[in-house]
Amino acid sequence: MDKIIVEGGRTLKGEVRISGAKNAALPILIASLLTDGINTFSNVPQLQDIHSTALLLENLGARVETRAGTVRIDAGGPIQYEAEYDLVRKMRASVLVLGPLVARLGKARVSLPGGCAIGARPINLHLKGLAALGASIELTHGYVEASAPRLKGADIYFDVVTVTGTENLMMAASLAQGTTVLRNAACEPEIVALADTLIKMGADIQGAGTSVVTINGVSSLKAVEATIIPDRIEAGTFLMAAVLTKGNITLFNTEPDHLGALIDKLRLTGAEIDIDGNNIHIKNSGPINSVDIKTQPYPGFPTDMQAQFMVLMSIANGTSMISETIFENRFIHVSELRRMGADIQVSGNSAIVKGVPHLSAAQVMATDLRASASLILAGLVAEGTTQVNRVYHLDRGYESLEKKFAALGAAIQRVK
Ligand code: EPZ
Repeated sequence: MDKIIVEGGRTLKGEVRISGAKNAALPILIASLLTDGINTFSNVPQLQDIHSTALLLENLGARVETRAGTVRIDAGGPIQYEAEYDLVRKMRASVLVLGPLVARLGKARVSLPGGCAIGARPINLHLKGLAALGASIELTHGYVEASAPRLKGADIYFDVVTVTGTENLMMAASLAQGTTVLRNAACEPEIVALADTLIKMGADIQGAGTSVVTINGVSSLKAVEATIIPDRIEAGTFLMAAVLTKGNITLFNTEPDHLGALIDKLRLTGAEIDIDGNNIHIKNSGPINSVDIKTQPYPGFPTDMQAQFMVLMSIANGTSMISETIFENRFIHVSELRRMGADIQVSGNSAIVKGVPHLSAAQVMATDLRASASLILAGLVAEGTTQVNRVYHLDRGYESLEKKFAALGAAIQRVK
């Protein structure tokens, strides 16, 4: 297993290009199952999760060709209705094939995704929505079997805002008979990106990006070319690294409008942020002020940036409160940060972070994707040399992160 070694104390300077968004690419690649031609997607990040998605689509019968950041998918041939356990267990977002398979084939058999480090991650709302569209759902031997001769539009309310739940049902409803309304839908930019791609394919969708999405089913969708939007979570990670190391960096290929909540909070910590089209310039020369955050569905503060922000607060001046309202167990990084000298008390879904003068380097272990990024950030400022183990978590969601940090002046390297 690879490790990443970081020597703390360097100031980040220079510029970095942000990659395409993993959480936009996954549903968009899977949406190609709804079409019968060759789709070409560009600015696709080269990540383990993208590779897993390509394997899954090939396993279902699609032809997939990946060349650097461009992925071509031809789902015009015969498509299987079963996604097997071995592929789904590697990536829970595989559950996104459920909606497209039922819509296209009238049935699907997909292994139930297990929980993961940050929570139980049930898919009950995905299934409730498919049932509302007329699918009969059976849970047997760890698989979900869904079947419907033809899906029929329905009025669906989500008890909880769910990103992939909204995506799954938006794709299924695109080919259903009649009108579907999704209420309390997720509003993330990745939802809008998927809707834009489906509309390009010929779907009739209104309201994507708001909490009420209306989909008028059509009879078929055609293959398209589309470009993946920038990754707001990767961008946020670099913005926080700049504040942490009192650096001065420019991010290229971002969508600043997707980062409103984080930019607001970083300005409150004292960072100077200038936005110039798709580029963001950030520098921080003074002390870091303590700022409270509470994770919320978009456009609130993203849960995927909570662990990284906690590192920032661990060396801030004063005490801050971090509340995690999306996942029930997303403070796993706390124990590792404590080992690096952070002063953090957790009670329920809140963490009280008391700033300390500095962190001290240690051997630490990554547990989930965003927690592993936070350990790298901690290593950038900790005194001494930090070793982050199990970086395969990192490779799922960040494209050559250590190379990008090294290009900004960090003393960081990957060892096999
Ligand atoms: C997506 O996961 C993202 N993954 C996650 O990013 C992100 O953290 C999450 O949205 C929240 O923003 C992808 O887009 C591939 P949810 P998702 O369904 O869709 C509960 C990363 O780091 N819920 O919005 O699985 C659920 O338990 C990953 O890239 C139900 O109860 O998250 C959670 O508490 C990590 N029943 C809340 O809703 C359901 O049927 C939000 O989950 C579905 C969800």
